[in-house]
Amino acid sequence: MNQTAEKHPVVEMRNIKKYFGGVHALRGVDLVLHENEVLGLVGDNAAGKSTLMKVLSGAYIPTDGDIFIEGKKAHFTNPMDARRQGIEMVYQDYALANNLDVTANVFLGREVVRISFGPFGVLDYHLMEQETRNLMNRLKIDIPSVRQKVERLSGGQRQAVAIARATAFDAKVIIMDEPTAALSVAAIDKVLELVRELKAQGSSIIMISHRLEDIYQVSDRMIVLRRGRKVSDTKVEGDLHEFRENVVAYMIGARDDYAHENDVD
Ligand SMILES: Nc1ncnc2c1ncn2[C@@H]1O[C@H](COP(=O)(O)OP(=O)(O)O)[C@@H](O)[C@H]1O
Ligand SMILES: [Mg+2]
Repeated sequence: MNQTAEKHPVVEMRNIKKYFGGVHALRGVDLVLHENEVLGLVGDNAAGKSTLMKVLSGAYIPTDGDIFIEGKKAHFTNPMDARRQGIEMVYQDYALANNLDVTANVFLGREVVRISFGPFGVLDYHLMEQETRNLMNRLKIDIPSVRQKVERLSGGQRQAVAIARATAFDAKVIIMDEPTAALSVAAIDKVLELVRELKAQGSSIIMISHRLEDIYQVSDRMIVLRRGRKVSDTKVEGDLHEFRENVVAYMIGARDDYAHENDVD
């Protein structure tokens, strides 16, 4: 790469607005994600976190605002558009097919076809299983077998499979919406380890969580949303207690680093 070339952030969202009728879910949010960064996204219920990430992953079309991927303006009209540009979202409810095995879930929607006869194809299960095994090993995900039906996995294992599935699409940006909600403490630690592993392997990640200690443990930077606006955008540093008090102050509206901008609606 040309060293003098300007390095663009992986993602830049500018002045994103999303209205659902009279509900102003996002009122002009800016967000930057740098390469190989873990960005935490926090805020109270209904702050707009999921909506902002659905806009980035192509599930929602914004009412206003622009998205740039590596400096190039993007026009996402559906999740496939975003996927093609390397943006992948892992949903809160996993969105896995429980009655299928791990391999089938990892390859859902992009099955490897061995031989094509016109519109028909023979799926290469052996290759898909091997690739799934490699993926699980690479991400240090502990599951009994790639032939195990997803419904027989624990909540933590299902979350790991959902995240692994996202990375299997060659995602450069992985968005996770509450990946640790409803998991046991041990399972939460595993998911956080997986986030660290993904970062170590070069991914850029945005993680939504209401568990501030999760954000504190894995994030480089954090954005706080409140009522559809950004109120804080800072490095994650200091001790956990200090961090928590600070974040809560932004969440409840006691602090707002963008008060002036936010006042002009
Ligand atoms: N599809 C939708 N239709 C109508 N309102 C929505 C829709 N999605 C989100 N909202 C509203 O937008 C606001 C932000 O929601 P959301 O992004 O889910 O918040 P968060 O994820 O921070 O809890 C809420 O008031 C919510 O009710
Ligand atoms: Mg949400």
